[in-house]
Amino acid sequence: MKTRITDLFGIKYPIQCGGMLWIAKPELAAAISNTGAMGNLTSGNYNSADAFRTAVDATRKLTDKPFIVNITTMPSIRLPIELLQDFFRVCCEKKVTAIEIAGAPVDTFLGKEFIPMAKDAGVKVLHKVGTVKHAVHAEKVGYDAITMAGFEEGGFPHKDNVSTMVLVPKVREAVSIPVLAAGGMADGKSLAAALALGADGIMMGTRFLATKESGIHPNIYKVLMEKTEADTSLQLQTLLAGFGLQVRALRNEIMERVAKVEEAGGDLSELLPLISGERAKKVWKEGNAEEAMLTIGQSVGRISDIPTVAELISRMVKEAEASLKNSLKAFGE
Ligand SMILES: Cc1cc2nc3c(=O)[nH]c(=O)nc-3n(C[C@H](O)[C@H](O)[C@H](O)COP(=O)(O)O)c2cc1C
Repeated sequence: MKTRITDLFGIKYPIQCGGMLWIAKPELAAAISNTGAMGNLTSGNYNSADAFRTAVDATRKLTDKPFIVNITTMPSIRLPIELLQDFFRVCCEKKVTAIEIAGAPVDTFLGKEFIPMAKDAGVKVLHKVGTVKHAVHAEKVGYDAITMAGFEEGGFPHKDNVSTMVLVPKVREAVSIPVLAAGGMADGKSLAAALALGADGIMMGTRFLATKESGIHPNIYKVLMEKTEADTSLQLQTLLAGFGLQVRALRNEIMERVAKVEEAGGDLSELLPLISGERAKKVWKEGNAEEAMLTIGQSVGRISDIPTVAELISRMVKEAEASLKNSLKAFGE
């Protein structure tokens, strides 16, 4: 396949893995990159620049193909701005292929010098956005590409609740840099649809979570296969209002408790013990899906197996081609 994204990254298939805290580590990143798609190494998994540098080296031992690094630019006690700046510097020092920024723009959050720093190092910088306005800003300050994430996505969608179907063509018309479509992407049909909407490729999180190489507990794989598209909910609108975000997570006991605290006007001190990343880390390993906020998207309803990454990518590419050929029948071709 050949699109502006395969050209930008130097990859075979325009399919990228999104940042996933506790999941997108060297093993999964390399497995994805080795298929010709784009693996993701999520910097937030590490507590120091040295630990992150070691992870970049570990990924390179497992693959000689390009991979992208996610840096989530949101205020965090565990990951202060200085550490996020160091992650960015390590990416430039190590000349990783690309950096995926999620959250506040690099220029305003990390500093004006960071995008030029990446350009000097030959590192591409993408911004994951949830509005057309933010995509336009990203192009203006020098980002190389946009990931347009609709509110179907697992994780932290924008508060506007606009779907991928509407956002992708809108952003494609508003910017001239390449665009990845994200939010609800699960298979070759999604890839074909995204290309038809004008995207240059797709990014997925939830579908890659449901692969053998994500290494999560078997109980969670079962949950991913059983849950439907109606089994996630949008929450934390009050807590995240200042960032224009909210969370999409699996409906479970913890999220019911979160809703009650939010309804009662509870503050961060009451919410933090419920939504902490440490809880999620434990659940991915130990398997009780009721016990943490699990960021999972609506595409969970389209998951019915746990393939290897290689099986997933090869069937997606075949399916996308078949879908596009099938669509042409409408024109008598
Ligand atoms: C388990 C999981 C963890 C995630 N963690 C992060 C994260 O640390 N940073 C981030 O920017 N996005 C995170 N996301 C969001 C993904 O990068 C991506 O935007 C989203 O999964 C795409 O939508 P989809 O789930 O419909 O494929 C996470 C998603 C999942 C499923």
